[in-house]
Amino acid sequence: MLSNKIAVITGSGSGIGAATAEIFVRENIAGIAIVDYNYEAACATAEKLGPVAFPVKCDVSKADQVQAAIDQILAKFGRVDILVNNAGITRDAIFHKMTLEQWEQVINTNLNGVFYWTHGLYKQMRDNEYGRIINLSSTAARGNPGQCNYSATKAALIGFTNTLAKEAGRKNITVNCVAPGATWTDMYSKVPEEVRQAMIAGNPMNRLGKPSEIGEVIAFLASERSSFLSGQWIPVNGGK
Ligand SMILES: NC(=O)c1ccc[n+]([C@@H]2O[C@H](COP(=O)([O-])OP(=O)(O)OC[C@H]3O[C@@H](n4cnc5c(N)ncnc54)[C@H](O)[C@@H]3O)[C@@H](O)[C@H]2O)c1
Repeated sequence: MLSNKIAVITGSGSGIGAATAEIFVRENIAGIAIVDYNYEAACATAEKLGPVAFPVKCDVSKADQVQAAIDQILAKFGRVDILVNNAGITRDAIFHKMTLEQWEQVINTNLNGVFYWTHGLYKQMRDNEYGRIINLSSTAARGNPGQCNYSATKAALIGFTNTLAKEAGRKNITVNCVAPGATWTDMYSKVPEEVRQAMIAGNPMNRLGKPSEIGEVIAFLASERSSFLSGQWIPVNGGK
């Protein structure tokens, strides 16, 4: 249960973030900020969840927008106990065709966005001596053709998580990565059909993951039930 807790989930207008928000509400979260640069999507998610949910427009790749969003959220809820750094993008290209723009967009969103949000909320977590930080990595951290940019960010989150967990433990803050395998969301719908079929065929469970199956693991890491679990990278991929 997440009773009396306040959460922020970035990129929760759709996909894994929206599914996770739904589980948090089912687990009685006291307040939840639905952060997305697609404000219509954030509002649609929040409307489904009811009055505990607060939609916030923010592009996580922009430090000034993140600070403004944090100010709004702290003004509304007073504190944040749980931060899920979920917003992420792909800009796939085989490396010799990858542009600097594709590289920078992915680094700015998937890696710098995590820094801005975590840095902005960390001090109050330390002061409150409580925090749960969950970063969305990916099994692509191990390498995936066409994803040098994406894979680099998702692997970087492992180092970030391991280090912050070592610094944060004494203040009762846990920091973990969840690493989904191929999961059926908008992000995955961009993958060509033949690649998708090959991924399904190569998975021991013969299917893609569902956003809620990632959300259940995030909810566990966000709860008191995982109080001594920190600094881990947890693949959720059907055993692939
Ligand atoms: N779907 C998969 O197969 C898969 C696999 C491994 C890891 N992941 C990771 O899980 C996380 C969620 O992915 P998803 O599949 O739900 O993606 P999605 O595309 O379905 O949803 C991502 C959400 O983030 C928002 N977003 C994107 N960039 C943003 C920005 N700069 N600022 C604010 N919001 C932004 C989008 O508007 C969208 O609502 C990502 O970090 C992704 O890398 C997904």
